[in-house]
Amino acid sequence: HASLNPFPSTFLFGSASAAYQIEGAYDQDGKGPSVWDTYTKLEGTTFKNTNGDVAVDHYNRMEEDVALMAEMGLKTYRFSIAWTRIYPTGAGEVNEAGLAFYDRLIDLLLQHDIVPMVTVYHWDLPQALMDKYGGFESRQIIEDFTTYCETLFTRYGDRVKHWITLNEQNIFIGLGYRNGLHPPGVKDLKRMYAANHIAFLANAKAIASFRNLVPDGKIGPSFAYGPIYPADCKPESIIAYENAEELNNHFYMDVYVNGEYPDMAMKYLEREGIAPTVEPGDTEILKAGKPDFMGVNYYQSGTVSANPLDGVGEGKMNTTGKKGTTSASGVPGLFRNERNPHLETTNWDWAIDPAGLRVALRRIHNRYKLPIIISENGLGEFDKLTENGEVHDDYRIDYISKHIDEIQKAITDGVDVLAYCTWSFTDLLSWLNGYQKRYGFVYIDRDETDEKELKRIKKKSFYWYKDLIARHANEG
Ligand code: BG6
Repeated sequence: HASLNPFPSTFLFGSASAAYQIEGAYDQDGKGPSVWDTYTKLEGTTFKNTNGDVAVDHYNRMEEDVALMAEMGLKTYRFSIAWTRIYPTGAGEVNEAGLAFYDRLIDLLLQHDIVPMVTVYHWDLPQALMDKYGGFESRQIIEDFTTYCETLFTRYGDRVKHWITLNEQNIFIGLGYRNGLHPPGVKDLKRMYAANHIAFLANAKAIASFRNLVPDGKIGPSFAYGPIYPADCKPESIIAYENAEELNNHFYMDVYVNGEYPDMAMKYLEREGIAPTVEPGDTEILKAGKPDFMGVNYYQSGTVSANPLDGVGEGKMNTTGKKGTTSASGVPGLFRNERNPHLETTNWDWAIDPAGLRVALRRIHNRYKLPIIISENGLGEFDKLTENGEVHDDYRIDYISKHIDEIQKAITDGVDVLAYCTWSFTDLLSWLNGYQKRYGFVYIDRDETDEKELKRIKKKSFYWYKDLIARHANEG
């Protein structure tokens, strides 16, 4: 790639995780229950009724996991803090043992020159706040979330300079209140947009309070951005693509960056009678919470065509790993999701589209002019442990290396990208999909029915990413 700019010497090649998906220790050292602790125990919510009680037991094996990160030479590690370890009931008395766990993790990372990148909220809302006032459906959460964040900023801000507020607000609100697949398992668009608005306010307030507490730090949300393509060049397909891009994507990122909803999406929600109520003062709060960067979790692009008013609505998601089980879906009157015939898909029907990451980075750069942290990107697949205890995940190497090539092209195009975190460092609980959908560089020997010894096994991709990081370090 002689004509491409090199990655900047400060570029952070890293990897990521989230508390509920790795920690386990669901009631250890004073931790309170989160909505995921409760939800996964309801019959039929997850693949083979899997839950994260033990997960990959990272809470008790943290030293071993960080040693693997150090061996790999990771430049950054993105992890999330479990709100219920810090405040077991979401508010009130702080739990020192929970704070101490993350102190140890942060210090250990720093000892190995791994930059800690902390997500404050990766979906594990305290169950107590759900019971008390319905979580994000009440404005009370703005204050409780801000207090929780301030506790973290105050405790760790001297050592942690990279912060992510809400992980994938579009996903946890969408799957929680539109599809009814995540807690609280609701299917109600009016409630969805109302909760979503309150989440925006919580995000903005937390960012505003960060400014005083960690003045030399950087903070932003992580958005699950799937850039949209029109299925063809029919003018009606172009309108459909613009509709989808605006309702799925700019509806969130515009509010984060500019504090204002995009007009066409808002008009549509008003016509449907599902628009959020923007109270006096809200816009000021939103505008005062401008992030330092846009965090992007990129897995796939989307493709759409026109969808009549009586057309297809909510579809079925593939949570089993059986190719082709995703059903048709769309938003009547706006767009219909299509399969892109030019792209291969994973066993969970996710389109594999490295160039889509370049598209995403360019679009965000053009519209928002902010630096970008790629906070997640990776491939969920069935991995096989060979008889001699190896995992030959060449497909993952291929996937990640092609995405990294596209990042380099985007950097050459002029996009300011600060970091790239793969999803994920170790295998982990894939929310609804159990343990069979694996993402890690490190294989965890367990499955849905048997925890075994939770042995850590380096996959082929582990050695490959280690080499890549070393190569770029020499280049920079
Ligand atoms: C993102 C989340 O949605 O994608 C992760 O931030 C998640 O927590 C990842 O694991 C992959 O999704 P899934 O459903 O395959 O686990």
